[in-house]
Amino acid sequence: MTTTFNIVVFISGTGSNLQSILAKQSEYDYRVSLVVTNNNEAEGLNFAEHYNVPTFTFDWKNADDALTNVQKKINAHVPKLIVLAGFMKILPEKFLNAYPNKIINIHPSLLPKYPGLHTHQRVLDNHDSIHGATVHYVNAQLDAGKIISQTQLAVNSSHDEQSLAKDLLFREHSLLPHTIALIRQNRVKWHGSNLYFEDKILTQPILLND
Ligand code: GRF
Repeated sequence: MTTTFNIVVFISGTGSNLQSILAKQSEYDYRVSLVVTNNNEAEGLNFAEHYNVPTFTFDWKNADDALTNVQKKINAHVPKLIVLAGFMKILPEKFLNAYPNKIINIHPSLLPKYPGLHTHQRVLDNHDSIHGATVHYVNAQLDAGKIISQTQLAVNSSHDEQSLAKDLLFREHSLLPHTIALIRQNRVKWHGSNLYFEDKILTQPILLND
């Protein structure tokens, strides 16, 4: 018997990562059962509609109360995973503690380098030759939870902030669904406080450059 691997995706804006997750649902055998946003004008909500996925919008100004309702909504879907895909707010510890080892985020840098914002410009300012994106578990520190996977991108002399962001986003669209699939297939899993990949403790990010 196979059980449905329900995931809930949080977005704040364009939602191109949500689109890539939705497009690979059948291939990777998971199902986006709810999309949550703090922005009722998020373009990404159109992708949810296109795939007939219910959405739930909440008001960040009222986050304490609102997140209680978000939790009720989420729990009704019994999600195996919560994916922050371009969700631009920092979730409070109380919320994170309700879903231990179940929330992942995609961040546009090779963490632990460049947590926070403006990662592409920081790469250019520092003349880095390699940029990348990271999928990691979420904890109470910003962009600091256990790293699962990364994709790398060579920076070239013609890159500016915009083109670098665009080239990296293209890579993110493979990295995030692929990482969800590894969790879905139980190839990435927690044992106590250790994260395992293929039965070995994960000490280095899994490099997914496809
Ligand atoms: C991505 O670069 C993601 O890494 C970052 O925000 C951006 C979201 O893009 N957290 P989109 O909304 O998925 O198009």
